Amino acid sequence: MYSLRSSLPDANIANKKVLLRADLNVPIHDGIILNDFRLQAILPTIHLILAKKGTIILATHLGRPRGVEPQLSTKLLIPWFEKNNFSIIHKDDLTPIAHKEYDDKTIILLENLRFFSEEQKGDARFAKELANLADYYVNDAFAVLHRNDASISLTPRYFDKPHRTIGLLIERELTHLNRLIENPQKPYLFIIGGGKINTKLPLIKKMLATTTEIALCPATVFTFLQALGYNVGKSLVEPEYSMHALEIVKAAQELHVTLIFPQDYYIALGTIGTKFEVTDSTNIPSHGIGISVGPQSINAIYSHAQQAKTIFMNCGMAFPDKPQTMVYAKKYFQIIADSPGYKVLGGGESILIAKEAGVLSKFDFVSTGGGATISYLAGNKLMALELFKQA
Ligand code: 3PG
Repeated sequence: MYSLRSSLPDANIANKKVLLRADLNVPIHDGIILNDFRLQAILPTIHLILAKKGTIILATHLGRPRGVEPQLSTKLLIPWFEKNNFSIIHKDDLTPIAHKEYDDKTIILLENLRFFSEEQKGDARFAKELANLADYYVNDAFAVLHRNDASISLTPRYFDKPHRTIGLLIERELTHLNRLIENPQKPYLFIIGGGKINTKLPLIKKMLATTTEIALCPATVFTFLQALGYNVGKSLVEPEYSMHALEIVKAAQELHVTLIFPQDYYIALGTIGTKFEVTDSTNIPSHGIGISVGPQSINAIYSHAQQAKTIFMNCGMAFPDKPQTMVYAKKYFQIIADSPGYKVLGGGESILIAKEAGVLSKFDFVSTGGGATISYLAGNKLMALELFKQA
């Protein structure tokens, strides 16, 4: 567990260039930002740096590009900043920025860091090139802390301690999430769904140590169902994780953690088009694609949610851009949001569903992280934060 404070409020950064590593990896479709939660979340740090007259060099990744993909350029973020009254210019390369080249109110937005293959390879030369752009380094990219990308775990090493810090967002995330790590009140209901199963399954296993109930939702649940011998039709499965799933089922029994499987599913027939139906959990037809839980599962989760004193939910289901897929996903989120315990939500898709269902504000805390949040809750070491640990 990390209890860290940002030193930014005390830093003297007037007329200094500040490299702000953020996670502005927001969902974008046809050039339109679908959910600006992560952009909103970084604003307190941006405002603080600007108020202290620092020049911001803003760096982020966007999506998972293979090389340069214009539809994942950070240029697509510029209209959002302009709409929010920031003066912003875009920089494609990492050539040094001359002092006084820009005034201290202008944000310099770097191109998608993942356009440079060195970023995800953790390349030290690239990390240093980034560091050379600035006098001061702020890591506020909570949602990508579970990766060891160069800008996250290497670049800060090129700044001495007085010139590097975490930002206000990471500080806030840690404060809230620590409440789920240090003696969470029980029953503790952990609700997990969505894709990226390869990231999630190893973490679910670790969560058995602190939770009392784990509710498995689409699509995560289908890897479990298939491993247990059920027919899941054309639902999303990662068969190479079957063994992980079976180990989790076994370990849950040994540790007396209840695994809650949905009783029914809302499925699409053939393609995610116009034909949908509710089906019993043991009866998914061969052309069925499980997209969310069904009504019986919603009734069943109600009593668990009412009794839980702590709930963590990361459960992307259905397709927020296709309203006809969302009916039960929204109801499920409403039930959780209306329950009385301490409730934390994480993950971009979950945030979208909660917004659609009109219940985002009912959660006690909404984390900007998906995989990073679960990784932190599962007790994993976050290399990027190790550096900031020493007093
Ligand atoms: C996220 O959206 O979870 C983070 O930005 C990390 O993205 P990644 O899973 O592509 O590394």
